[in-house]
Amino acid sequence: MTRKAKIIGIGSYLPQEIISNDDLSKTLDTSDEWIVSRSGIKRRHKAAEGEATSDLAVSAAKAALADAGVSANDIDMIIVSTTTPDLTFPATAALVQQKLGISHGAAFDVQAVCSGFIYGLSVASAMIESGQARRALLIGAETMTRLLDWSDRATAVLFGDGGGAVVLEETELAAADEPHIVGSYLRSDGNLKDLLYVDGGPSTTGTTGKLRMQGREVYRHAVGNIAEAINSLLAQHDLTVADIDWFVPHQANKRIIDGVAKRIGLPSEKTVVTIQDHANTSAASIPLALHELVKSGRVSSGDLIMLEAMGGGLTWGANLIRWA
Ligand code: ACO
Repeated sequence: MTRKAKIIGIGSYLPQEIISNDDLSKTLDTSDEWIVSRSGIKRRHKAAEGEATSDLAVSAAKAALADAGVSANDIDMIIVSTTTPDLTFPATAALVQQKLGISHGAAFDVQAVCSGFIYGLSVASAMIESGQARRALLIGAETMTRLLDWSDRATAVLFGDGGGAVVLEETELAAADEPHIVGSYLRSDGNLKDLLYVDGGPSTTGTTGKLRMQGREVYRHAVGNIAEAINSLLAQHDLTVADIDWFVPHQANKRIIDGVAKRIGLPSEKTVVTIQDHANTSAASIPLALHELVKSGRVSSGDLIMLEAMGGGLTWGANLIRWA
C-alpha cells in the first residue's frame, strides 16, 4: 500500500458580468471574427467592483466542499494558485481561510501564473503523500481583468476572471487503477520572462502593473513545451497517449490546444474546450474545464485525465489523474 492523494470534490465559480467580443469591439479596434478565429474566445466574465480573487476562490471552494461532502473544518491545508492576489500579503489562501471560518491547518499561495493549478496540484499531492496534510483544498482563482491594459487590443481580448477548486484526500493505494493523482511534471525557464509578464510590483515600481505579452513568441514556445511535458510525464509512468481518456488543457488559446492535441496524436473528442465561455482565466482555467467535464457526466471512475499548462515565467507542466 502506498499513500497517495485523490480528488474527492470539485467546484467552480464565474462572476455574473459577461463581456462579449462585440462589447469589446465598441471600445477597441477589434472584432468578434478576429478574436474567435485567433483564439476561440467568444465571451469572458468580469468580477464586480469590490469582488476580489478571494471571493471567487471562496465561492469555488464552497462548491467543491459541498461536492466532496466535507466541511471547511475537515480541511488541514489551503493552497490558492493565483497571480492576482487580493493584497501583496498575506496570501490569498489566508484570506480564504478566514472567509471559510477556520483557524487550523496551513494556508499559502502558489505563483506560477497560467501553470498555477498544475504546480498547485503537484504541491498538494506531495504534501499529502509526505503526511504533512490529510485533506487539502486546492483553488485556482484569478481576477485577470484587473491586470489588463484595456487600450491594448492584443491582450485585453484574451483574458477573464473565474475560480475553480478541488478537495484532495489521502488514500492508501492498493491497485494502480484506483483513483489518485498519478504524477506531475513541472518546468520553468526564467530566461523567457520578457515574453509574458506584468510591468509592476512592490519591490520595483511600487505599483501593481499591467500585463505585457509578446503573443506570437509565447505561441511559438507553447506547443513544443507542452507536448514535451505530456510525453515526459507519460513516459515516467510507463503510459502512452493511447492511455489518456480525457485531455483537460489550460484554456489559453484554442489554436494552442488543437496544436498540442495534433502534436501528441490525441483525438479531438477526448479534448475538453471551454475557452469560448470564459477566455484565459490563468490558474482557474483547468479546474473550470475539469468541472465542465465532470458535470457533463462523460468521465467514469478510473479514467485517466491529463492536465497541462504553460504561462508566464515561462512555466509549464502537466499532471496525470486517475479519476475518482
Ligand atoms: N483585434 C484585431 N487585430 C488585432 C488584435 C485584436 N484584438 N490584436 C492584435 N491584432 C493585430 C495586430 O496588431 C497585428 O496587426 P499588424 O499585422 O497590422 O501588425 C495582427 O493582428 C497580427 O497580430 P499577431 O500578434 O501577429 O497575431 P497572431 O496571429 O499571433 O495572434 C495571439 C495573436 C492570439 C495573441 C496569438 O499570438 C496567441 O494566441 N499567442 C499565445 C498567447 C497566449 O495564449 N497567451 C496567454 C498566456 S500564455 C499561455 O497560457 C499559453
